[in-house]
Amino acid sequence: DRSIKIAPSILSADFADFGREIRAVEDQGADWVHVDVMDGHFVPNLTFGPPAVKAFRPHVKTVMDVHLMIAPVDPYIDAFAEAGADILTAHVEAGPHIHRTLQAIRGAGMKAGVALNPGTPADAVAHLLDLTDLVCVMTVNPGFGGQKFIDLTDKIRTLRAMIGDRPVHIEIDGGVTPDTAPLVARAGADVLVAGSGVFKGGSVADPAPYGENIRAI
Ligand code: DX5
Ligand code: ZN
Repeated sequence: DRSIKIAPSILSADFADFGREIRAVEDQGADWVHVDVMDGHFVPNLTFGPPAVKAFRPHVKTVMDVHLMIAPVDPYIDAFAEAGADILTAHVEAGPHIHRTLQAIRGAGMKAGVALNPGTPADAVAHLLDLTDLVCVMTVNPGFGGQKFIDLTDKIRTLRAMIGDRPVHIEIDGGVTPDTAPLVARAGADVLVAGSGVFKGGSVADPAPYGENIRAI
C-alpha cells in the first residue's frame, strides 16, 4: 500500500557506517529514517545521544524520526531540536508530565510523538491527541531490534477511532515484517518502523536487498 510510510530503524544498520547506511536506505525507498535513542535506564540498552543524531542529520534527506527511550526527557529536548530531529517521540511511561513534554517538543519547533509500551492501554493518550502529531504503538518491549511481534491490533483500532479526523499518524514499532505489516495497516497504522526487516540480507556495498525488503513490507 503506497499510502503507508516505511521508516527503517538504523538500530539494525552497520554502526561503523551510519552516513552511508542512511543514504543507502533512502536511495532504496525509505520514507523516513527512524533513530532509536536508548539510555540504559528506561530500557536495558544504550545507543546514542544528541551529538550522534546531529552527525546523522546531513545524511537524512527525508524525515528524521527520533524515538526517545529515555527518562527523563525534558532536559534533552533542546539538544535534540538543535541536533535536527524533525519528529521527537517520548514515551508516555517516561515520567509524570508527558503533557508538558509534548508542549515543550512542539515549542522547540519539532513534531511531537508519544509512544506506548505494549502493556500500556490506548486510553493513556486520550487527553494528549491535540498535542500530538504521532502515536507510536510498540509491538515489542523496547530495547532491542529483532524481537517477535506482539499482536496489538485491537489497541491500534481503538487509537484510530479515538484520533478521528485529527492529523495524527499511528506508527508501529517492533517486529514489522511482510507477515505482520498487513495486520497493522488494516487496523489503522500508517507508518511502519522496521529494523531487522529492512536491513537483513543487505549492506552499503550491496543495498538492493534493502529495497526488496521495503517493497515486501
Ligand atoms: C525497539 C526499537 C525499534 C527496533 C525495531 O526498541 O524502538 O525501533 O529497532 O526493530 P525490529 O524491526 O527489528 O523489531
Ligand atoms: Zn523505535
